[in-house]
Amino acid sequence: MRHKKILVTGGTGTLGRALVRRLVQDGHEVRVASRRLRPAHDRDERYSWAVVDLRSGHGVDAAVTGVDVIIHSATSPRRGAEVTLTRTLLEAVKRAGSPHLIYISIVGVDRIPLRYYQDKLAAEQLIAESGLPYTILRATQFHDLVRYWFTWVTWPPVALVPTMRFQPIDVRDVADRLAELVVGEPAGRVPDIGGPQVHHTRELARSYLQATGRRRLIVPVRVPGRTFRAFRQGHNLTENAVDGVTFEEYLATPASH
Ligand SMILES: NC(=O)c1ccc[n+]([C@@H]2O[C@H](COP(=O)([O-])OP(=O)(O)OC[C@H]3O[C@@H](n4cnc5c(N)ncnc54)[C@H](OP(=O)(O)O)[C@@H]3O)[C@@H](O)[C@H]2O)c1
Repeated sequence: MRHKKILVTGGTGTLGRALVRRLVQDGHEVRVASRRLRPAHDRDERYSWAVVDLRSGHGVDAAVTGVDVIIHSATSPRRGAEVTLTRTLLEAVKRAGSPHLIYISIVGVDRIPLRYYQDKLAAEQLIAESGLPYTILRATQFHDLVRYWFTWVTWPPVALVPTMRFQPIDVRDVADRLAELVVGEPAGRVPDIGGPQVHHTRELARSYLQATGRRRLIVPVRVPGRTFRAFRQGHNLTENAVDGVTFEEYLATPASH
């Protein structure tokens, strides 16, 4: 395997932490971009840090200099932020001599009219039209997000669970796929990836409640609107299922992240 110099934006995030661990294991030289430097006792010496704010542009030029690959995993749910962060990064990447840019996106961003998804799609388009060597991977919802969603949905004694399906994927499986893409050539949009199983939300709710030892009455509800209809139609799912960690397995071992 060829070892690369890799910058990971969002390297402190849910996916980013698993990804950095995987890249370090593979022997790559990894630089983690974050808005704040961790105190010395909290830093792992197997990779370096770059203080970067993709909103203001602070530190971006220095961070992208000298790397072979950038994995762009930084994100913000604020309206329009995904586009701003990506544009700032792209401008710096162009100045740095065009390393391979890998972007992690979400299955169905072109079919589900959620505002955050529309921002992800716009960011994909910016990258594709930038003239830079790039790869875009879309993944289904992470287990962490689905679990978090159910903490809210099952908060009241009667859990109103929107009727739809999820195909949750473990961030370690997404990290494995990104680690393959890192050593490959820029490939444009590559096939989507999804978790090993597709479940109805009521089944996932039961698994979540069982794992957390709580009892709730689950009431499936059909939520009106275009966004929930797109989810019900399965636009968040893919046929490219990984043979990886299931939601139940994840619930049994979330701390291993
Ligand atoms: N969650 C899912 O289900 C899912 C599914 C498919 C794809 N994805 C995509 O996967 C990527 C990672 O998602 P995630 O859930 O792991 O994200 P996350 O945990 O919310 O992490 C967000 C990261 O973005 C960084 N960040 C935020 N604002 C920044 C800024 N202004 N400048 C620089 N860095 C900034 C944060 O770093 P600091 O706080 O250290 O600065 C943090 O590491 C996203 O692009 C997301 O759309 C997510």
